Amino acid sequence: MNPKFKVFSDEFTKNPYPAYKNLRETEPVLKMRFPDGQEGWIITRYDDAVEVLKDHRFIKNVSKLFGGSMEHQSIFMHNMLFSDPPDHKRLRGLVQKAFTPQMISGMRGRIQEITNDLLEKAAGKETINLIDDFAFPLPIIVICEILGVPAEDRNKFRIWSNSLIEGSNGEHAAEMFQHMNEFILYLSEWFEKIRKNQGKDLISQLMMAENESDHLTERELFGVVTLLIIAGHETTVNLIGNSILALIEHPEQLGLLQNQPEIIHNAIEETLRFNGPVEFSTSRWASEDLDFKGAAIRRGDLVIVALNSANHDPLQFKDPEIFDITREKSPHLAFGKGIHLCLGAPLARLEGEIAIKSLIQRFPDMKLNISKDQLEWRPGMIVRGVKEIPLLLK
Ligand code: HEM
Repeated sequence: MNPKFKVFSDEFTKNPYPAYKNLRETEPVLKMRFPDGQEGWIITRYDDAVEVLKDHRFIKNVSKLFGGSMEHQSIFMHNMLFSDPPDHKRLRGLVQKAFTPQMISGMRGRIQEITNDLLEKAAGKETINLIDDFAFPLPIIVICEILGVPAEDRNKFRIWSNSLIEGSNGEHAAEMFQHMNEFILYLSEWFEKIRKNQGKDLISQLMMAENESDHLTERELFGVVTLLIIAGHETTVNLIGNSILALIEHPEQLGLLQNQPEIIHNAIEETLRFNGPVEFSTSRWASEDLDFKGAAIRRGDLVIVALNSANHDPLQFKDPEIFDITREKSPHLAFGKGIHLCLGAPLARLEGEIAIKSLIQRFPDMKLNISKDQLEWRPGMIVRGVKEIPLLLK
């Protein structure tokens, strides 16, 4: 592993920002070896990050580089996030049809209702674990309702998707494979049921598209549904968790938001910039040899954009280490950039805004029930968030 940048060290997992600062200043395009033995480039400056995310020479479907096709990729990768044009346009277009701005804003009332129910349950307790009791259930209920997943199966989805995410650090690989087999079996049986009895949910709509000229193959249906389930809640859980942590650590900002709830949109944008939920999942592969800012990147090299580092680049953001919910015009990259810009961003923003506004109104005196140092950050390369947030509500 590169001695300058220990991605999986406890120190980095707790607080990656000093390491990012060092890299931006000394080696903004760094080649390093990950603990699984894979080598890759890490991009840490804002301008470079934007350039990579918009440059079509950095591609997503690695199998194309080695003479394969999408068929050779894992079943969970048959979706827009791991594809390039023209497949990307077709796959994204099909889902985009269902993720319209009207559909998202039509969810507002339901998201508020779910939020109120969860807060009502919490109100009976003196302490809660914000992650388990609120931040996780809210987005998983929302995405499961959009997809039409039966309510009683939601918890299984949490276990499976956690396993996929945390399996990414190698330690949990065996458990991950077992969970993935259960997940594939569940999806096959579930799709079979929907085929016989189609409804108005997103899966039924995607299946109907199977009969049109623009259609999804069976593998793509697996890939797209898996992506929506994982992307639809793993990230939003951490948006809610990271927002509350930032507000509690900055009581003057919390007070400001309590006095001016109308600036909630800005507050969520600032959390996304200050401590975004996505760590390293923005990977690409160089489709040709190229010189990038003096670095000789070779065809087939892995290139990862560190979004949280780009969002702390002082060349782009004034006083980036300061959490300031009144910050104006924040072109942060928490949702990525270019053709893979997050499809669920409007939904995530809506959920985040409703969740945080309601939570701080309902429990104005909440406090962290452990010290900041005791917070346990989740391992793995994909998301940035903590395992538990014990809160004292009154
Ligand atoms: C893509 C972040 C919530 C669905 C992405 C990407 C990022 C991201 C950074 C681009 C990855 C890349 O370029 O390699 C986030 C964050 C979220 C969030 C920070 C919450 C705060 C959601 C939600 C959904 C969703 C709620 C769906 C319900 C997707 C999809 C893509 C994507 C489908 C792939 C788009 C494509 O490849 O064209 N997200 N996401 N995300 N996200 Fe999100």
